[in-house]
Amino acid sequence: MVIADHPITAKAHTNIALVKYWGKLDNELIIPQNDSLSITLDEFYTQTSVEFLPDLAADEVVFDGEKLSADSSVKVRTFLNLVRNLANIDDRAKVVTQNFVPTAAGLASSASGFAALAGAASKAAGLNLNRRDLSRLARRGSGSATRSIFGGFVAWQQGHNDATSFAYPIDEQPTWDIAVVALVLTAKQKKVSSRVGMRLAVETSPFYSAWVAASRADFETVKTAIQNQDFDLLGHTSEQNAMRMHALTLSSDPTFTYFNADSIKAMNMVKDLRLQGIPCYFTMDAGPNVKIICQGADAKRIAAHFQTVFGKDQVLITRPGAGISISD
Ligand code: PMV
Repeated sequence: MVIADHPITAKAHTNIALVKYWGKLDNELIIPQNDSLSITLDEFYTQTSVEFLPDLAADEVVFDGEKLSADSSVKVRTFLNLVRNLANIDDRAKVVTQNFVPTAAGLASSASGFAALAGAASKAAGLNLNRRDLSRLARRGSGSATRSIFGGFVAWQQGHNDATSFAYPIDEQPTWDIAVVALVLTAKQKKVSSRVGMRLAVETSPFYSAWVAASRADFETVKTAIQNQDFDLLGHTSEQNAMRMHALTLSSDPTFTYFNADSIKAMNMVKDLRLQGIPCYFTMDAGPNVKIICQGADAKRIAAHFQTVFGKDQVLITRPGAGISISD
């Protein structure tokens, strides 16, 4: 194993879960309670470069042009320690990361962020990981990052330990015309992190076991919908699954929600469009932003409709994106 003598850069796209991960079996290893399934999105990504340098006294992290304090870089440094352990090295690293995602607003920046960091740091440390092992490594940073290693439709197999919990591609280059219209309703940091929110759900929601059972069934249904290119089945099941996840926040103790007034307005608009005969479905992650799953041919008019209410820059059309790429 040889440490790279130049910075290694990785680019990873974010993903939106159609069948969500919301709860861990193992908090340390990030083993989830159920399989999940996502689409990788082409418009939102993170680009990260990493170089391990013998003369550095401490890890240095530059995030969107700003040098992070020791406190705010703790997750990144903990992750670098994992990589150092795996590669059996001691050198500190210089990390420069650029996020092309509104951070922490439910557009899953931690997914693209930790996937890119896993790709760049492991290669910079001299590890030559295959994509399955990269997804296992990314998982240790953030669960949703597990799936951002691959493009298109991706599943994360729950597994039961570090070796068996990884992502795999279901359809890396979908041949059907599918799009996601993302509504950036706020780019503010979320109040309850996904880590805290899912822990609360596991520990306090009386509906938690029902969620796991329903998600297992949803996973099989969405997988079948992808195989058969059945858009309505995929959309309907994804929307149901999202609302089931959000029912966990409402039934946790203390209760909380990621919805804001605009989220509810947007969800109702999606339902109205459906009544007018335009097939589209919504999903939401751990933030107020709403993503609309639609067919590519309808994406422009759906986006235009939402732009009249939420503003032009708040509405973005995105399509299935590629898996991780890493420089030589
Ligand atoms: O892995 P995290 O901390 O980004 O949590 C992800 C949680 C959801 O985005 C809500 C669902 C998912 O499967 O991505």
